[in-house]
Formats: sequence, C-alpha cells, structure tokens
Amino acid sequence: VGSLEARVRQAEEQHRLPREAITALLAAPEAEKSLAAAADRVRRAFVGDGVHLRGLIEFSNICRQDCMYCGLRRENGKVKRYRLSADTIVELARKAKGYGYQTVVLQSGEDIYFTAERLAAIVRRIKALDLAVTLSVGERSYEEYALWRAAGADRYLLRIETTDEVVYERWDPGMAYANRVRCLRDLRALGYEVGTGTLVGLPGQSLASIADDILFYQRIDADMVGIGPLIPNPDTPLGKAAPGDFHLTRRMVSLLRLLLPEANIPATTAMETMVPHGRELILASGANVVMPNVTEGDPRRNYALYPGKVCVADTPAACRSCMSGRIRAMGRFVAKDKGFRHHRQHGG
Ligand code: 5AD
Ligand code: FES
Repeated sequence: VGSLEARVRQAEEQHRLPREAITALLAAPEAEKSLAAAADRVRRAFVGDGVHLRGLIEFSNICRQDCMYCGLRRENGKVKRYRLSADTIVELARKAKGYGYQTVVLQSGEDIYFTAERLAAIVRRIKALDLAVTLSVGERSYEEYALWRAAGADRYLLRIETTDEVVYERWDPGMAYANRVRCLRDLRALGYEVGTGTLVGLPGQSLASIADDILFYQRIDADMVGIGPLIPNPDTPLGKAAPGDFHLTRRMVSLLRLLLPEANIPATTAMETMVPHGRELILASGANVVMPNVTEGDPRRNYALYPGKVCVADTPAACRSCMSGRIRAMGRFVAKDKGFRHHRQHGG
C-alpha cells in the first residue's frame, strides 16, 4: 500500500506514471479513496469548481453498425427506430439554451440519412443560437468532418472504446481500429476539441490495456475523455456478459484526472445507472462535466443503448433542476461559460 500511495503522489505532482504503476492502481481497490481525493484536488486546481452541463440531443437511433454490446446495433429488431426532423432538433437546441445550457451535443447512431450537407445545415442553425456544438455521430470521412467544422461545430466525441485492437475488432465487427484512430487524427487536424473514451468491461479487455487507453489519451492530448462501464443489453450478443466494474471505472476516472489534468471529464449516465448518485461520486473523484439529456417524448425512451438508463422517465426541465440542485449540494456550481478546454500556460 505504501508504494501505491507513493504512486498516487507521483501522479498528483508530475501528471505522469509508467504503465505498470497505472495498471497497479487500476487493480487496487485499497487505493481508490486516495486516488479520488488526489484527483479531486487536481480537478479543483486545474479546472475549478464549476460543473459544465452539456445538453444531449439524441436525434436518431438508426445505425449502420453492429457493435455487439449496443442496443442500437442494426441487427436489433426490438428497438423502435426514430429520426428527428431538422426543425425538431433545432427546437430542442433552443430549449436547451432556455435551460441555461451553453453546449448541445448532437448524438446519433451512424445514420447516413444525415448527409454531411444535411447535418451542416442543422449545425449552422444551432450556431446562430450562440451555443457551442458538439457532434457525436460516428465514423465519417475527413471531408465530412471538415464541412461540419466549417459550419461551426466546436467539438467531436468518438470513443475509441478500447485500444486493444483485437478486442475492439471482436466486439465492433466490420469496423477497423485503424479507421477509428484515423477519425480522431482528422478531427484533431481540423481543429475540433476531441473527445474520446473507454467502454470499461468489454470481455477480453485487460487492466494493462486500460492503462494503455490512458496513455493513448495522454499521447493524443485528448480534450475530453468520457468513460463508463459496460451495461449488458439483453437484446444484444453481449447480453449475458458480466457488467463493467463501477469501482474500476471510478479509479480510471481519477487516474484520467491526475494524468490529463486539464481535460473535460464527464460523470456519465452509465455510472448513475449502475449506482444511484454515481454521478456525484464521480464528480467528487475527478470529473467536471455532466451531460443531461434534453431529448423529449418517445425518442428519449427509444435511445436505448443499454437497459435501465436513468432519467428516461423525467422531463428535461426536471433533470435540469435535479442536476443543478445536486451540484450545489456538493459545494460546486453550474459553470456559466461554454466550457472549452483549459490550457496550461507554457513557458514563462
Ligand atoms: N453499456 C454501456 N455503454 C454502452 N455504449 C454502447 N452500448 C453500451 C452498453 N451496453 C457506449 C459506447 C458508445 C457510447 C455512445 O455508448 O461506449 O461509444
Ligand atoms: Fe435526471 Fe436527476 S438528472 S432526474
């Protein structure tokens, strides 16, 4: 335990750790509290007490991909498919602005009805509302990403899921690990703030590979890192897999904060789904972002990545007051700015 504590201190002071030390801390439930406390101090020093709320618009659950864990996979005949109109999407963004959110995240399955042109037109209309726009619509070409960037999109979320190429291609059949890395590189080259992350608990994923994920995020200088545990979806081939480990995921969040001190790190919905008030625990363990869902009505229910997703029965307005109340109760506050990534001053 003594040497683990020394590693936590080293990470807090230097924001660097060798792979073996990261792996050892991921494996150590006994280090979880001190990791979280160190991550909470680093979070406060680098990104402050403000919590950024991003309004999530799940605008289509139609997907051309077939990921073995995801309820939206094309082979899942049980999910009721929907696609929101451009007017509805813009209206939800307008309401998000009304709730005080400064960013909307436009997320969907890989629905190619939304051509680059169609989505660019929506981005332009939302940018006219003075909102930051994050896109999360999967793998596309450099040219498509470029068109959206020119339309005003600020950020892009694309989880790598795992940096273990063999595990990645086993559970995302038909998808190439190399193309996912290519997408992240293109997004960076185009000047997006780049968000990525890990799905914790994919069968075959090792702790060493999770350590590699963290080192990968450091190497690509990820602006945002969102992680969550696998929640087995009975309507998918991984329906009988073991769920991801909440506490391992929490240790990973804390290590991410220690090793990427400026990053925006969300307390994800999957964490709350596994443990009531899980988001608050994660906000106190290094995270500084929450993504409340602003999708309404049937689509809110039918964007079913995994079962039991929290807040599905609540209105967007109820989640708005719930979240700000919980944040204030923690002694934190809802940030008022758009929440771009903090950059450390270099030199001087
Ligand atoms: N459990 C937890 N997370 C999931 N995702 C997809 N399916 C599941 C599941 N069953 C995550 C993936 C994806 C993100 C949008 O949702 O990591 O990148
Ligand atoms: Fe949705 Fe609390 S955040 S009900």
